[in-house]
Amino acid sequence: MVGRRIAGYRLDGEIGRGGMAVVYRAKDLRLRRTVAVKLLAPELARNEVFRQRFMHESEAAAAIDHPHIIPVFEAGEHEGILFIAMRYVEGGDLRGLLNRGGPFPIERAARLALQIASALDAAHDHDLVHRDVKPGNVLVAAGTDSEHPEHLYLADFGLTKKSLSLSGLTSVGQIVGTLDYAAPEQISGKPLDGRCDQYSLGCVVFEMLAGTPPFRRESDLALLWAHLNDPPPELRTHRPDLPAAAAAVITRALAKAPAERYASCLQFVAELRAASAAAPGRGDGAEPWNGAGPPTQVVPVAAGPGPGPGSVPEPPAWAAPVVHPPPR
Ligand SMILES: Nc1ncnc2c1ncn2[C@@H]1O[C@H](COP(=O)(O)OP(=O)(O)OP(=O)(O)O)[C@@H](O)[C@H]1O
Ligand SMILES: [Mg+2]
Repeated sequence: MVGRRIAGYRLDGEIGRGGMAVVYRAKDLRLRRTVAVKLLAPELARNEVFRQRFMHESEAAAAIDHPHIIPVFEAGEHEGILFIAMRYVEGGDLRGLLNRGGPFPIERAARLALQIASALDAAHDHDLVHRDVKPGNVLVAAGTDSEHPEHLYLADFGLTKKSLSLSGLTSVGQIVGTLDYAAPEQISGKPLDGRCDQYSLGCVVFEMLAGTPPFRRESDLALLWAHLNDPPPELRTHRPDLPAAAAAVITRALAKAPAERYASCLQFVAELRAASAAAPGRGDGAEPWNGAGPPTQVVPVAAGPGPGPGSVPEPPAWAAPVVHPPPR
């Protein structure tokens, strides 16, 4: 695809690929600027439910003008391929940041979580639920100064197939994408609101602090079961240095019942910051945006058969089926 033109964009180089799309660095030929163009797998364009929601949610996300939501320039279809053109963010995503420098001191985790939470609350105010909050969907740009060393952008509104898998895009027994951050109500197919994103953010914050998401199981089915039924693990098993109050805040964001979580994502993070103020041995929280930060005491987790916290799933071929193999 490199060198090809999609609508008014020339694809210059592949940035990366996920389970359902390939992202390219591209040139906007009208404005002569570099953008990122995401091309969705062709089979998604053929699914009417997905196509309609993609167009609707891309428009809705583009309408929100927020410093931590990725600016979307255009979403459309070109020769049967759905595409989205957005700001190009040089600096990778939170997955990469975690792989390189995680786990983080609590000040850094809270500072990053605050940016994501403000983006999510803005989306929720517009009746838009992200549904796929995870480190790979948080893009990391260099910040403005040493007090704001990184600037995060939340990306990929409405691009999850998880709920579609319940409405027939994938056949029974096939599970799509990572389930590490999926809320219980999402798994059980209940109506979703912003509190589902709060649960996912809670999983991301847990991972930023513990080095592993809250639930890791041998199979996708066991993982689904854990999100639905198992109490959230004790964060302080991994991070005995953190105050109990901070661990309790995350446990509440991970409540099975949405009504038991915080009223908003920003409230969740505000409580986390208040609780972490008591954390012993805090750094100044201003590590370089791509640096590893000061050493953090971490108790390693038992190595399970699933992918480790630092591993990246093998990217699928461009036109390969978009579903993962059924769990054994
Ligand atoms: N606007 C952007 N600027 C720069 N890089 C981007 C941009 N959007 C996405 N990327 C990068 O492109 C890669 C692929 O993104 P994509 O959203 O397809 O996959 P993902 O979110 O990792 O997985 P999934 O398919 O499960 O959503 C990621 O590494 C992501 O960081
Ligand atoms: Mg993504």
